[in-house]
Amino acid sequence: MDATSPKLAAPSAETIDRLVAVVGEKYAVRDAQEMENYVTEWRDRWPGRASLVLRPGSTQEVSEILKIANETQTGVVPQSGNTGAVGGQVPSPSGNEIVVSLERMNKILRVEALDNTIAVEAGCILQSVQEAAEEVDRLFPLRIGSQGSCQIGGNLGTNAGGIATLAYGNARDLALGLEVVMADGRIWNGMNRLRKNNTGYDLRDIFIGSEGTLGIITGAVLKLYPNPRDRAVALVGISAPEPALELLALAQGKTGNGVVGFEIFPHYGMEIVERHTELRNPLGSYFPWYVIVEIAGGAAPGDLMPVLTSILEEAFEADLISDAALASSEAQYQMFWSMRERMSEVQKFEGGSIKLDTSVPVSQVPELIERGLEALKEAVPDARPLPYGHIGDGNIHFNISQPEGADTDAFMARWDELTGIINNIAIDMSGSISAEHGIGQSKTYMMPKVKSPLEMELLLGLKDLFDPNGILNPGKVLPS
Ligand code: FAD
Ligand code: MLT
Ligand code: ZN
Repeated sequence: MDATSPKLAAPSAETIDRLVAVVGEKYAVRDAQEMENYVTEWRDRWPGRASLVLRPGSTQEVSEILKIANETQTGVVPQSGNTGAVGGQVPSPSGNEIVVSLERMNKILRVEALDNTIAVEAGCILQSVQEAAEEVDRLFPLRIGSQGSCQIGGNLGTNAGGIATLAYGNARDLALGLEVVMADGRIWNGMNRLRKNNTGYDLRDIFIGSEGTLGIITGAVLKLYPNPRDRAVALVGISAPEPALELLALAQGKTGNGVVGFEIFPHYGMEIVERHTELRNPLGSYFPWYVIVEIAGGAAPGDLMPVLTSILEEAFEADLISDAALASSEAQYQMFWSMRERMSEVQKFEGGSIKLDTSVPVSQVPELIERGLEALKEAVPDARPLPYGHIGDGNIHFNISQPEGADTDAFMARWDELTGIINNIAIDMSGSISAEHGIGQSKTYMMPKVKSPLEMELLLGLKDLFDPNGILNPGKVLPS
């Protein structure tokens, strides 16, 4: 059977009662109004409906739910923190699917400082995992703007990136093992703690990034790192993306692997952060672009300030940068990063905004930005582009805010056209249309364009093998 073909019907009243009995009435949401937070997402795109929301408290309950769903051919949408950016975590408008939220499964199971591992339930909020690591003087290095609400299951489901990918990799690089409930309810215990384990194909890596379409992740063993003894961060004013890359190379050359974060945003980003938050530009004046650079390591607090200072002095003398402010306190450190991390949030106050997640080889980011800006100028001359983000990873969120005073609905109706313009440039440059957010429901139609027929055949075959009835997150990732 073609795994994407079944159009699943709504569960019967009897099936709903059986599903509710698994978690108990207290942890089921049947009322449409009470389901609101689970069927809509933070940007109010892709509004969905569900027949039921279930909040299981254990792997066993997730297993019972999937057994019933598989037997009755009921679509299941796995959900963690509901911060996903591509609509993968919300059900379709049909109202036929159920949402399974992992939010109650939020226990830290075991921290092994000597192994540098932490085992957690999948509903743990990312920030809680960071804090648990900190308690044993270790670092869990996944860092994203949504870390106060996104959960490990969603981070692994999307293979999340973020602002420390440059040094530590994506979520996939940070996972050693997983526990996953399969579509038919069987439980795969892959909570591996080994650093090295080459026993055949790696199932873990197939589930990571599969966006809830191959199984529900219920637990994970994650890697911890030694806590850097010092860190230094600067906000830098710069004329263009090219010198930003030269600054990155300079900083990496002077610190080994010490650059943990390197992010860029244009003046429009600074403008809207200042307009919509209490944060203020710490530099003496305004510049076309800004970079936030963080280095970490050293042997003791205070070690890195002189290192970063000398890097910036050298960059200044070489005409790579125009100005820089170093964070001299924890409050300033948080303030600099807030400017960057709130970029997504403040864009909402500027009216309709179209979101992109493109990547190209790091050295080609300036070309991507230049070509993208030119093409957008032609398509919507008054649009306000905001190409920003993880330049150190070659990953730019080429977001586009509507022209001031324009009709929001009319602008948002151009989503596919405008994302198409940027994505086609990225494809032309051998880049990716999804660097870190995933495919969800927003980019499924692009899959045959970015995957070869051979890849599509293998992906559909995998889906069919793992989920023959197509109950897991129907309509997501693979086109139906
Ligand atoms: P959800 O949104 O609930 O789910 C995301 C996907 O994973 C869905 O397809 C869902 O079905 C699937 N899923 C959820 N739980 C499970 C599970 N237990 N098992 C299997 N599949 C599951 N993303 C980045 O990568 N980098 C960033 O820098 C970044 N910054 C952000 C900043 C802000 C302010 C916001 C709001 C979002 C940002 N995101 C970023 C997007 C988002 O936070 C990430 O994609 C995150 O990993 C999603 O986690 P979540 O718990 O919210 O998952
Ligand atoms: C970010 O890096 O800020 C996010 O991934 C971008 C987003 O939410 O659009
Ligand atoms: Zn990002």
